[in-house]
Amino acid sequence: MRIVNLKLKKHPYDIIIGRGILPRLGNLLKKIDIGAHAYIITNPTVKKHCAEKLQSILSSSGFSTKIKTIPDTEKSKSLETATAILKDIAKYDKRKRIFIVAFGGGVIGDVSGFVASIYKRGVSYIQIPTTLLAQVDSSIGGKTAVDLSEGKNLIGAFYHPRLVLSEISFLKTLNLRQLRSGLAEVIKYAAIKDGELFIYLEKKYRAILECRYAAMEFIIERCSRIKAEIVAKDEREEKGIRTILNFGHTIGHAIEAASQYESYNHGEAIALGMLVETEISKKLGLISSAKAARIEKLISAAGLPTIIKGCSFKSIIQAHHRDKKFLGKKNRFVLLTDIGRAKVVLNVPIPIIYVALNGRIKIPSSR
Ligand code: NAD
Ligand code: GLY
Repeated sequence: MRIVNLKLKKHPYDIIIGRGILPRLGNLLKKIDIGAHAYIITNPTVKKHCAEKLQSILSSSGFSTKIKTIPDTEKSKSLETATAILKDIAKYDKRKRIFIVAFGGGVIGDVSGFVASIYKRGVSYIQIPTTLLAQVDSSIGGKTAVDLSEGKNLIGAFYHPRLVLSEISFLKTLNLRQLRSGLAEVIKYAAIKDGELFIYLEKKYRAILECRYAAMEFIIERCSRIKAEIVAKDEREEKGIRTILNFGHTIGHAIEAASQYESYNHGEAIALGMLVETEISKKLGLISSAKAARIEKLISAAGLPTIIKGCSFKSIIQAHHRDKKFLGKKNRFVLLTDIGRAKVVLNVPIPIIYVALNGRIKIPSSR
């Protein structure tokens, strides 16, 4: 078992990583004195694979449990779903000391954290992430959100969980596409912050896609540590430090929105975003062609998409203009200066963005 502490001044919390660690949950919860009644938010897929075990562990440790399932889709990150959950909690919560358990991937984590942040002006919650993407990224750091048709993650709050428990055995039922999606965020960490991790991934990406335990434990701990360090330095993304975690996300979010969250999952869109943003870095002379080529080679070897299909240049640019990463009229990109180093760049010249993006689209725009 590995423990990473997110050292926040007000509310530090542990990220516990390992295989077979779920039975420790009862004691961990008692230690943080979180309450007696667990309101578990999940979806039918996660419920089928993993919920029975969670409920029986909580019950045998003396907690009462209630499960709320929401549809298994990115579209569940909506105000409508959040409202339905809130009404259900209000019915359940009759003089109980409840806490919320976000039990699933990033979608469940984001919407559950958002609900926890607004119910009674904030109730305690924990994250039990069940996808690779959620274990390395979305369960950590307190970003909670729902989407609007106008853009992704437009409504949300910074609201941290009291505990993150990453049970690696849950990942065994993920399909290859979901493992690849999580690997995209791992590649992101390596590209922005950890050249050694990048070399490890170049050698070991197959072991990750086969969900080998040692490789999973290594990358989940390494990424959790990187994220915890960054978030501790810049909790609310106010100092430009946390911003580097958005590498690939400026274009990636625009691709997700332009394809109505249907053609690509989050990691696939971020992989495409990383390729476009690496190309911008190259065109600005920040990173060499050889290093940019290594990034493309790893993304491609991981089986992630390298060409944008199914959405147009125009729709991506329109979505990009609605992105909350804009600062006033200035665009803002995270660009690479090396493998393992990134910086935030404002006002990237539009023609450079357009050429880099067009080069990745199956049928480029003649504009
Ligand atoms: P997801 O939550 O949609 O999960 C992907 C799929 O895997 C779903 O069908 C889910 O039901 C299934 N699944 C989950 N656990 C499983 C298991 N153990 N076995 C089998 N199937 C399982 O997607 P995701 O990739 O986990 O997360 C993507 C979301 O996370 C996006 O909405 C993105 O915006 C958000 N995100 C948030 C942050 C943050 O900091 N808050 C960071 C990165 C991504
Ligand atoms: N996933 C980006 C962040 O948590 O800041």
